[in-house]
Order: sequence, then structure tokens, then C-alpha cells
Amino acid sequence: MRFTLLASLIGLALGAFAQSSAVDAYVASESPVAKQGVLNNIGPNGSKSHGAKAGIVVASPNTENPNYLYTWTRDSSLVFKLLIDQFTSGEDTSLRTLIDQFTSAEAILQQVPNPSGTVSTGGLGEPKFNIDETAFTDPWGRPQRDGPALRATAIIRYADWLLDNGNTTYVENTLWPVIRLDLDYVAADWNQSTFDLWEEINSSSFFTTAVQHRALREGAAFASRLGQSGVVDGYTSQADNLLCFLQVGSRFIAT
Ligand SMILES: *[C@@H]1O[C@H](CO)[C@@H](O)[C@H](O)[C@H]1NC(C)=O
Ligand SMILES: *[C@@H]1O[C@H](CO)[C@@H](O)[C@H](O)[C@H]1NC(C)=O
Ligand SMILES: *[C@@H]1O[C@H](CO)[C@@H](O)[C@H](O)[C@H]1NC(C)=O
Ligand SMILES: *[C@@H]1O[C@H](CO)[C@@H](O)[C@H](O)[C@H]1NC(C)=O
Repeated sequence: MRFTLLASLIGLALGAFAQSSAVDAYVASESPVAKQGVLNNIGPNGSKSHGAKAGIVVASPNTENPNYLYTWTRDSSLVFKLLIDQFTSGEDTSLRTLIDQFTSAEAILQQVPNPSGTVSTGGLGEPKFNIDETAFTDPWGRPQRDGPALRATAIIRYADWLLDNGNTTYVENTLWPVIRLDLDYVAADWNQSTFDLWEEINSSSFFTTAVQHRALREGAAFASRLGQSGVVDGYTSQADNLLCFLQVGSRFIAT
């Protein structure tokens, strides 16, 4: 799958686990390379993002064998979760414009009617879009219900930072409506069949269930912080159901 971007992402994530001095040295030299690789794939100015709208993460510039010149909600959200962590921790304060472009791009994609539906009829579960923010309409393994959960987790992290820094207006007016669409979708549809993250099996998926559980726990805490008390109980009770389902699933794996 999407080697360029995933390899860069794994290189960055490994930094968190570095122990030995040899690993430390490798991480120190590789991290800037991996980070630049990630940034190169983000529109509008990344060197490998030609044709991508602002804030759109290109899976790969490859257009044949295989054609990966698309943007996946899952991959984009994982990429930006990491960039948002670097921004909110103070490690890289230059990322704010890009993060704002990402949240704006995702707000647009949420509303694009696609083969999974419209924003109110399941379209949030559409796995991938064209990099010019139009729908991808060929056959594909759809829906993939981890995308909205991962997107909510990433944007909540940024929104919490904005609240910490007194920018409540932007969070309430601009980010909360985007976050809420995703959380409402997860709360309503988590028990429906989904294609897994490798896009092959239409079933339930441990990964999907795990990230949905996380999103609803974080979503309940975030909604509570924002004074959106009307949704908190619903998110919490579906998170409880997700946890129960996860535990049943682990027992199947163990036997
Ligand atoms: C992208 O490049 C254009 C043209 O140079 C510039 O105006 C814009 O600020 C750049 N955007 C980002 C996010 O760097
Ligand atoms: C709040 O954050 C948004 C997003 O970065 C920014 O556009 C806006 O200027 C900020 N508002 C204030 C008052 O800082
Ligand atoms: C929905 O929940 C039921 C009861 O926990 C479970 O048996 C079923 O496998 C779930 N289906 C999906 C697709 O998650
Ligand atoms: C996925 O599985 C569900 C439940 O068996 C079924 O209703 C749905 O049509 C399947 N979707 C695809 C695309 O095969």
C-alpha cells in the first residue's frame, strides 16, 4: 500500500520509541527526511502534491501500477494527527496554516456527495476522494468507517489546543460542526459492516472498532468541555457498547 507516505509516517512515529543510541542516531537523521516526505505530499505546495487542493494529503504521486493519486480520509487524518501533535506540543509551530487548510479541506469533503451517500446518508464513510476534492466514483471497498473516527480524533486535539489558548469562537463556529458530524456518524453507524483498513474485507474490523471507541470517548470529553451537553450521554453509551464489542472480539481472537 501507499509506500511513500506510510514509510515516512512510520519513520516519524518510531521516534517515540527510540531507546538505544544507534536507534537515537538513526531517528535523529531520518526524522527530518521523513517529515519532509510527509510535507511533500500535502497540497497545495508540497513538491509531490501537484493538483491537490490546499490541505489535501496525497497518498502517492504514482498514477499507474498502482494509481494512488487520491486522498484517503484515514491516511490524511493519521498524517495530520501527527502534525497536530507536533504543533500543539510546540515542536513545530510553523504548521498552523497547513492544519487550518486540512480542517477546511475535510469540511469540504464531508459535504461532497459520493457513492457511499450524502453527508446525511452515509457519505462520511466514503474512503477516498480525488485530490481536487471531487468524488471518486469507480468501484471500491466502501464504506470504510474508521475515517470519520480518526478525523474526529485529529481535529479534537487541535480544537483542545485552541480552547487552551482562548480561541473558543473558532472552535464553536468552525471546528465543532465538522467534529460533530463525524462523531454522530460513528455513534449511529459503528455496528454496520465496514471494509477494513486494507480495504478488502467487508465485515467488522478490530482496528475500526478500536478507533471508533477512542473517538467517542474523546468526543464525549470534548463536547462536555465545550458545553455541548446534549450529545455527551449518547457518545458515552455508544463508546461503552464499542468497548463491550471490542472485548468480545478479543476473546474470539484468543480462542
Ligand atoms: C503556497 O504557495 C503560494 C504561492 O507561492 C503561497 O502564496 C502560499 O502561501 C503557499 N501556501 C502554503 C500553505 O505554504
Ligand atoms: C482562531 O484560530 C483560527 C484558526 O487558526 C484563526 O484563523 C483565528 O484568527 C483565531 N482567532 C483568534 C482570535 O486568535
Ligand atoms: C453488531 O453488534 C452485534 C452484537 O454485539 C455483533 O454480534 C455484530 O457482529 C456487530 N456487527 C458489526 C458489523 O459490527
Ligand atoms: C457488506 O456486508 C453487509 C452485511 O453482510 C451487506 O449488507 C453489504 O451489502 C455488504 N457490502 C458490500 C459492498 O458487499
